[in-house]
Amino acid sequence: MSNENPLGAPDADVIAIAADAAADIARLTGVERHDIAVTLGSGWGKAADLIGETVAEIPATEVTGFSRPAAEGHVGTLRSIVTPRGKRVLVIGARTHYYEGKAVRFVVHSVRAAAATGAKIMVLTNGAGSIRPAWGPGTPVLISDHINLTGSSPAQGAKFIDLTDLYSRRLRDIAQSIDPSLPEGVYVQFPGPHYETPAEVRYAKIIGGDLVGMSTALEAIAARQSGLEVLGISLATNLAAGVKTTPLSHQEVLEAGRAAESVIGPLLARIIGAM
Ligand code: HPA
Repeated sequence: MSNENPLGAPDADVIAIAADAAADIARLTGVERHDIAVTLGSGWGKAADLIGETVAEIPATEVTGFSRPAAEGHVGTLRSIVTPRGKRVLVIGARTHYYEGKAVRFVVHSVRAAAATGAKIMVLTNGAGSIRPAWGPGTPVLISDHINLTGSSPAQGAKFIDLTDLYSRRLRDIAQSIDPSLPEGVYVQFPGPHYETPAEVRYAKIIGGDLVGMSTALEAIAARQSGLEVLGISLATNLAAGVKTTPLSHQEVLEAGRAAESVIGPLLARIIGAM
């Protein structure tokens, strides 16, 4: 791909660009089609080694439409894995966050590219703040629904997308067949990159939220728009602002992710193995 990201054009044809990305992925990995795509968020990285045998790993920057990482030194990768049961899994280790200030079409490009590779299932993982004191750092939570407080959508124009059952009951059942104790909660996406105020967290709770985060709702909408079945899983990395009274830090979020890795990595690998 050229240095110019084709998604930069205001009238970018996002579907054609996703198709170009899928063609790049097929060419660079040598795998024509994928069945399942997985985006790995904070704490979930270990899963990639456990899902199956890695067939290819490519820098995301080689694929049309993927953005250069915001922070120098960390290039995200796309990994093609084959599970013991022969399913082809595309692991997306490169996420563009809404808080980077780019248009939403950049944020959801990886999801659209995943759909264009042939994937039918999109697994979205993240690290999130927990509004529920009982779900302390290290608790994995299945997303049952979301509230999108970004004020944005990946869709444009008169396209009215049904989100009634956005987070698949079938896939949550598969996850709970692996771990029956997995709780379910409503994910509230804030724009970030600042953490919420305690008042915003109280508001999120009043309107029905259990978790606060900065990534997954927009991606899930794009996944549904692309015809993908969605599983969302959060790792509670911290109690949300005001639920805990000490200040929040990114360091704390990363450390909680690392501490939980050895538990949630195998969990996610088993869930994907059962799909
Ligand atoms: N708020 C928003 N996003 C997050 C949090 C939080 O408390 N923890 C991890 N990601």
